[in-house]
Amino acid sequence: MGRPHVIVEADTAALAGRAAQRLVARVTENNGLCAICLTGGSTPKRLYELLATPEWRARLPWERIHWFIGDDRFVPENDPLSNIGMARLAFLDACAPPETIHPIPTDTASPDEAARLYEATLRDFQAHARTSDAPLFDLVLLGVGPDGHIASLFPGYPAATETQRWVVGVPKANVAPFVPRVSLTLPCLAQCREMLLMASGAEKRAILTRVFAGEDLPAAHASSKRGDTIWLIDKAAAPDIGEA
Ligand code: 6PG
Repeated sequence: MGRPHVIVEADTAALAGRAAQRLVARVTENNGLCAICLTGGSTPKRLYELLATPEWRARLPWERIHWFIGDDRFVPENDPLSNIGMARLAFLDACAPPETIHPIPTDTASPDEAARLYEATLRDFQAHARTSDAPLFDLVLLGVGPDGHIASLFPGYPAATETQRWVVGVPKANVAPFVPRVSLTLPCLAQCREMLLMASGAEKRAILTRVFAGEDLPAAHASSKRGDTIWLIDKAAAPDIGEA
């Protein structure tokens, strides 16, 4: 990876505010149907809750934004481990028309089956809802795990080096929670106008140091092929990489 574009905010509240601003900007620059790929984990929760507040809610044209998810745990949506379940509770169910929410179907026979169906959903969306020159997503949000994973693409797993498929089943997670996952792949996530990777807290500093040093980790290979790649982190997570 080249030198990443890094934005450092004071704390998690400022980080959520900056992420919300970027999201609104991406939506505003597209007059047609927008597509946003959400992430699970704890880092984006504050952003999601912010979007549901009256001030931010009023700034988004909800009827023309479609919401996808970059990975999910293979559990029912009402399970506390569900990524889309967390996003629904934090903002989607209160703000977004139901037909604009596109969860990974985890009520299927297996993670592989869910992956096949979700890939079909994404390909259909790109073919029919996006203009021919637009990448799949306007914005892809991602968090980073302590082992350098993004979405459910864990270091050393075949899913992390997949080049053809857009969505894959991941039978075993590398970190907790140890439930099977379904994940978008790097070539799929790369199809965006902006990839926004978020990390906060001192416990992320060690892995960010390794990622920014260019170690062979999924997070170091995550980048937009059609636009900007931005790391949005807070001071506590910031490694010593000089001026951002
Ligand atoms: C998941 C995620 C995963 C997450 C990172 C960071 O399903 O677990 O999508 O990729 O974003 O593990 O998680 P935190 O934000 O909780 O640190």
